[in-house]
Amino acid sequence: MTFEEARAQFPVLERFAYLNAGTLGPLSRATLAAQSERLRFDQEHGRGGKAWFESVLALRATIREQLATLIGTTPDHVALTSSTTDGCNIVASGVSLGPGDEVVTTDSEHPGLLLPLNVSGAHVRVAEVAARPTANALETIMSSVTPRTKLIAISHVLWTTGQMMPVHELKRETGLPVLVDGAQSAGAIPVDVGELDYYTVSCQKWLCGPEPLGALYVRDPDALAIKIPSYFAQKSIEPDGAFAPAEDAARFDSGWLTTPSLAGLQAALEGAPDWRYDRAAEVAELCRRALRERYEIVGDGNATLVSFVAAGDAPAEAARLYDAGVVVRDLPGTGWLRASCGWWTNEDDIDRLLAGLSS
Ligand SMILES: Cc1ncc(COP(=O)(O)O)c(C=O)c1O
Repeated sequence: MTFEEARAQFPVLERFAYLNAGTLGPLSRATLAAQSERLRFDQEHGRGGKAWFESVLALRATIREQLATLIGTTPDHVALTSSTTDGCNIVASGVSLGPGDEVVTTDSEHPGLLLPLNVSGAHVRVAEVAARPTANALETIMSSVTPRTKLIAISHVLWTTGQMMPVHELKRETGLPVLVDGAQSAGAIPVDVGELDYYTVSCQKWLCGPEPLGALYVRDPDALAIKIPSYFAQKSIEPDGAFAPAEDAARFDSGWLTTPSLAGLQAALEGAPDWRYDRAAEVAELCRRALRERYEIVGDGNATLVSFVAAGDAPAEAARLYDAGVVVRDLPGTGWLRASCGWWTNEDDIDRLLAGLSS
């Protein structure tokens, strides 16, 4: 697939310089068509009958396999969820934390991770990585680890600045359970879960899937308690609600997921070119270099998010850019704008961003 062919999959790019996959990725024609087709199919079959139900199970199995391949694992380690937040809740509740336990995180995490940590019952220690070079992150996070630490829970790529956190090194150095929020990494940069314990995926962002869909990698399903059980994911259930968990990580599935969205996601996963990570890194660097000539880039990130200090009021600037056909977001309370560069982004999108910005 050439770059032009890949880009032409997305109708939104004909109208907008769409630089917001960190929130929601663009939807391809194939994804939109697969959603409509699945909706029609579901209605035709009355959402009932053995064949229809088996088709849903087959669709779920396909998605589980595709997502497993994406992050370097096998389907038995993947739960299908509705979001990264879902995955974080499943893990933060399932590792059975309580008073006296500590969780280490950073000062640049999304509420999708922070809120589950906050209600986990553990004391949350916040490592201050934001104002420091990425090269210091390992040391900074390690200095928050104590004998009481039961979980390290951080993003792979910070949603604020695009900085990549040393998740594998943290696992190696501490041996502690590590939960990685992969909302800004899966689909944007190569991911291999390796020795990590838990890894979340958001499908609606860099994977260009419909919302709401996600996944959770679980290295050892038996080591995580099921605290948010769904009936869909258990092998057998007694009259009093006692249950035998499903095999493998499927026991953490978040229940029913909408079939048109799953069908759309399958098309999205199949439409991604194999050169996607190289291209995304290249165009993000191009964007960073171009913006740096006029604006202060925030952080030394090298993933696909590029944040910079807006000239003037950032929310107003984002709104003005939208009206000019350029979609970026502001980061509340910071005065920063964030551009998301995907494998579909071209030089013209970046030129339009620069042309639309106030100086
Ligand atoms: C780093 C990070 N974590 C979590 C989330 C929430 O993702 P989801 O909507 O899949 O729960 C986001 C969304 O922007 C994010 O950037």
